Amino acid sequence: MGVSSLGYIALNVSKLDEWLDLMTKVFGLEVRRRHDSDVVDLRMDEHHHRLTLNSSEIDAIATVGWEVGSMAELEALAQTLRDRQIEVVPGSPGLCAERKVKALYQFREPTIEVESEIYYGPLVSNTPFAPSRGISGYTTDGLGLGHVVFWVKDVQATIDFYTQVMGFKISDYIAWDDNDAVFLHCNSRHHTLAILAAAPGRPAGALNHIMLEAKSMDDVGYGYDIARDKGIPIMLEPGKHSNDHMQSFYLQTPSGFWMEYGFGARLIGEDWEIKSYDQPMLWGHRGNRMVAK
Ligand SMILES: [Fe+2]
Repeated sequence: MGVSSLGYIALNVSKLDEWLDLMTKVFGLEVRRRHDSDVVDLRMDEHHHRLTLNSSEIDAIATVGWEVGSMAELEALAQTLRDRQIEVVPGSPGLCAERKVKALYQFREPTIEVESEIYYGPLVSNTPFAPSRGISGYTTDGLGLGHVVFWVKDVQATIDFYTQVMGFKISDYIAWDDNDAVFLHCNSRHHTLAILAAAPGRPAGALNHIMLEAKSMDDVGYGYDIARDKGIPIMLEPGKHSNDHMQSFYLQTPSGFWMEYGFGARLIGEDWEIKSYDQPMLWGHRGNRMVAK
């Protein structure tokens, strides 16, 4: 019960054109521009869209959309939120039409304090995903969009909320330098959510990064070259993570937070053992100097 996957993310972005350049040229996503608005949906698989960019004065995450498996589970999860004195607002027909889902509830997540939605029944298009560059696509089937990582003010409160209310389980922990990260899963993707303790310069509620997982290492490699050639800041060079074994690199988005472009993560199985690691990488992921946004 609870959340079955990370379904969609909407972002408020001040540099829409730069974002579209990044999303199409590097990540190869398909653009679905809405008529009569500055809102752009981006497609990466059979779903109508997974990412939405709202042209805005500010850069911030607008919404995190969590998918649940049935209408009954959606109602049950909404009631669980109400039982915790969290206000849940049913999505209007207009909002559901924008999100391309059958039904949703909006709420303000109380620990990260991010606007969130739980939903049921995403629209799947009968036309194939048409990537903006020659990529093999994204690993999303049964796993969702990818993963999202936040800095939070109270790590234990966030763990409690996502495990006790939203149906997540802990995958593992990594502590290194002045970072303390906790990784959580809601399906067999190693982590759909990870959290880090907030610190000076890393405010609570801020987005650390979003990860998209390619179906081939070549997609990531070509994407790395394209990003470098375009002068997009590479924040972590290619490397392999210690816990999920993802091979990836990290770049800085026009909004300041990072995106990870990865391939080949291992999955959580029935016999998963929770471990603690003292480094986030097996090799690589060497850092580059922070570039001002
Ligand atoms: Fe990541």
